[in-house]
Amino acid sequence: MKERSSFSSRLGFVLAAAGSAVGLGNIWRFPYLAAKYGGGTFLLIYLILAVTFGFTLMIAEIAIGRKTGLSAIGAYTALDKRFRFLGILTALVPTIIFPYYSVIGGWVSKYLAVFATGGIKEAAGDHYFTDFISQIGSPILWFCIFLGLTAIIVILGVEKGVEKVSKIMMPILVVLTLFIAVYACTIDGALEGVIYYLKPNMENFSAKTILAAMGQLFYSMSLAMGIMVTYGSYMKKENNLESSVRQIEIFDTGIAFFAGLMIVPAVFAFSGGDESALGAGPGLMFITLPKVFNSMPMGGLIGTIFFLLVLFAALTSAISLMETVVSIVMDTLHCKRLTASLAVTVFSFALGIPSSLGFGVLQNFSLGGMSILDMMDFVSNSVLMPIVAIFTCVLVGFVIKPKAIIDEVKVTDGTFKSEKLFAFMIKWIAPWLVLAILISSVASGLGIFSL
Ligand code: PHE
Repeated sequence: MKERSSFSSRLGFVLAAAGSAVGLGNIWRFPYLAAKYGGGTFLLIYLILAVTFGFTLMIAEIAIGRKTGLSAIGAYTALDKRFRFLGILTALVPTIIFPYYSVIGGWVSKYLAVFATGGIKEAAGDHYFTDFISQIGSPILWFCIFLGLTAIIVILGVEKGVEKVSKIMMPILVVLTLFIAVYACTIDGALEGVIYYLKPNMENFSAKTILAAMGQLFYSMSLAMGIMVTYGSYMKKENNLESSVRQIEIFDTGIAFFAGLMIVPAVFAFSGGDESALGAGPGLMFITLPKVFNSMPMGGLIGTIFFLLVLFAALTSAISLMETVVSIVMDTLHCKRLTASLAVTVFSFALGIPSSLGFGVLQNFSLGGMSILDMMDFVSNSVLMPIVAIFTCVLVGFVIKPKAIIDEVKVTDGTFKSEKLFAFMIKWIAPWLVLAILISSVASGLGIFSL
């Protein structure tokens, strides 16, 4: 049998996994949630959850991949035949997310091009974004460019494609983020926003704070999508799994934190301290921020740098999605990387088109106010992912038992510092927390209450 590809070094693994974790969620959702749910209080809760709950799930997924040397379907089946269904459910998640994530990646690419060519004034116009996404050709063209770029990197392979690109893009992303964060904090009127973002505010604290932090963490760490299983399957036994996970968490949380410093103070300064100007999602990134950049000195340059870093964040996440699907296709159908990659590209292109057209010609095709893209997002993130995570906890906690994972973590040098925490969390705490995420995200998606 052909030897499985692998990351050449521990750093390569950490940067590729961090590349997956750091994505649009860090930039367009975390700052908004932190500001909305009590500033410093939210940050603290998020941090505690990251080192306990997030840590546990990430260890489990990476260890499952490394132990079996397989991507999701093969891995779960190898652990227990009855869990093949879990592998299939897991495989569905990146298959659904990748196409629409690439549609959004296309929007980011378009904005980078517009800013880089001096189009800041137009981009800051009131209807610019809605006019753009409601067209047919242009968003599809940018979607193709983003998809093509991702495909080329995946075709190049784990070491020459995924690892290499992560090693270049992730350090640049850190530097650019710090640069904009520092710049944004020094503009007139920004201080108020910095305080709003960092100061613990118990008034905005409630059970929802914890739920929002959990949901965000779960998505942000790229859990329950088979990604960490796949990347784990490329990880060498001589690389320490526990410290790698710690570093991925620091990376992911650090970038989310600085994204807040990049965005909250700048929006505050722009809106004269009106916190309602701070939204989440596409509205923040493609409507509010271009206006904010347009109002700052050197806005064209800052905006260009900003969209470049967002493109890097989105691209490394998209690569992890596509690599996961390609890896599953290769493992299941025993075909070559190139064949699998081309098939996944064509399939994802076809599936992405309706998401792209959902803001224009297919606008009337909506369900409960959700566009096609929102529906895909709802099914994968709010329904499938929590279900996958619950069954993963059941599989590890009660079927193969935590010891199987603990042994895998210990393979490198016999140590697993947080062994007890892991064994307890995976059995008794994590499944309940994920169940809470499932209930709240389905309820908020269906408009029963909103987060
Ligand atoms: N973790 C990424 C983020 O925070 C999201 C992501 C989604 C990554 C899907 C990979 C795949 O944005």
